[in-house]
Amino acid sequence: MLVKKIKIKDFRNIKNAQIEFDPQMNVICGENAQGKTNIIESIWLFCGAKSFRGAKDSSFIRFGEKRAETQIDFISGGIEHSAKMIFDERRAAVLDDKNLKSPGELAGIFNAVVFSPADLSLVTGGPEKRRRFLDLFIGQIYPNYIEILREYARAVMQRNRIIKDYKYDPSVAIMLDVFEKEISEKGVKIIEYRKKFLGMLNKYIPNIFSGLSGGREKIMAVYVANCDAILLGDELKKARKDDSFSGVTSAGPHRDDIDLLINGISARQYASQGQKRSVAITLKLACLSVLHEVSGEYPVCLLDDVMSELDEHRQNYILNSVRSWQTFITCCDPSTVTRLGGGSVFSIKDGGVF
Ligand SMILES: Nc1ncnc2c1ncn2[C@@H]1O[C@H](COP(=O)(O)OP(=O)(O)OP(=O)(O)O)[C@@H](O)[C@H]1O
Ligand SMILES: [Mg+2]
Repeated sequence: MLVKKIKIKDFRNIKNAQIEFDPQMNVICGENAQGKTNIIESIWLFCGAKSFRGAKDSSFIRFGEKRAETQIDFISGGIEHSAKMIFDERRAAVLDDKNLKSPGELAGIFNAVVFSPADLSLVTGGPEKRRRFLDLFIGQIYPNYIEILREYARAVMQRNRIIKDYKYDPSVAIMLDVFEKEISEKGVKIIEYRKKFLGMLNKYIPNIFSGLSGGREKIMAVYVANCDAILLGDELKKARKDDSFSGVTSAGPHRDDIDLLINGISARQYASQGQKRSVAITLKLACLSVLHEVSGEYPVCLLDDVMSELDEHRQNYILNSVRSWQTFITCCDPSTVTRLGGGSVFSIKDGGVF
C-alpha cells in the first residue's frame, strides 16, 4: 500500500493542501494544535472506517464551510487508484470515478493501521476496548465477521429484552431457547475468530515487544473467555434465573477480554506509563505484520504522537522497524524522527503545509 499524493480542501483546520508523500518515511511536524493529527485522520478515513478520535462526520468540515473534500492517489495490490471522500450532509466516497454505495466499500482496498495516544486505553481501559480492537481488526481481514457480530449483538439484545419477564412468566422460555441458540451459534464463531486472530498476533508480539524493551521484558496476550465456547448454550440456560434479575446476558463473548501480561504480571495494573504505551504500540505494529501475512501487502502505517514518553532506545526501535512500509508520523520536534535519516519532512502551521 502506497499513498502517493493527497489533496485536502476545507477538512478541519486545513483550507487547502496538496502533499506528495515519500514512499517510506513522512514526518509531519509542527507545534500543538496546527493540524498534524488532522492530516493523519484525513488519510485514515480512506479505510472507510470512522475516525479513530471517535469524532462525528460533521466535525470534519471546516468551521464556516458546508462541505469538505479529500482525495488520494494510492497504489494497492500493484494497481494505481484514486479515491475521493466528500463530506457534506453525509459522507460519500468515490473510487476511480465510480460512486461507492458507502465509504465502507473502501475497506480492503485501502488499508491502514493507526496508532494514536487514545490507544493507551487498549491497556488501561476496560475489556470493551480490547474486544473492539480485536473486532475492528478481524473485520478488516474477514468482512463476514462484521455480520456475525451484528447478528450476535441482535440476539443478545433480544434475550435481554425478555429475560426480565422470565421470573414471573416461565413461558418466555420458548423464546429464550431461540435466542440462546442464535447466541451460542454465533458466539462460538466469534470466539473461534478472536482466538485465531490473537494467535496470529502472538506470532509477532513477543519479538516486537522484546525489541522495544531491549530484550528485558516478555509479553503475552491471552484470550480470556468467560465460559467455554461449546458450553455457551448450557451456561445461558443456567444463568436465566440470575439474568432475569440483572436484566442482562451474563455469558458469552460480549463479556470476554484479553489479558496483557509483562513478565507474567498484568500490564493494566502494574506497568509503567512507558511500558503501557509500548504494549499498545506493539499490538498495532503486530497488526501491520498480520495484515501483511494475510494480504501480501503492508498497510499504510499512521503514527500519531507515538514518540512521547518513550526513551531513546524505544523510539529508535520503532523508527527502525517501520522502515519496511510507508509510514506517516507526527511530532513536535522533527529531529526526534529524522535523526535516523531519510524521508520527507512536512511542517504544518495553522492548517498550512510547507
Ligand atoms: N472542523 C474544524 N474546523 C476548523 N478547525 C478545526 C476543526 N476541527 C478541529 N479544528 C482545529 O484544528 C486544530 C488542529 O488540530 P490537530 O488535532 O490536528 O492538532 P495537532 O497539530 O495534532 O496538535 P497536537 O500537537 O496538540 O496534537 C485545532 O486547533 C482544532 O481546534
Ligand atoms: Mg495531534
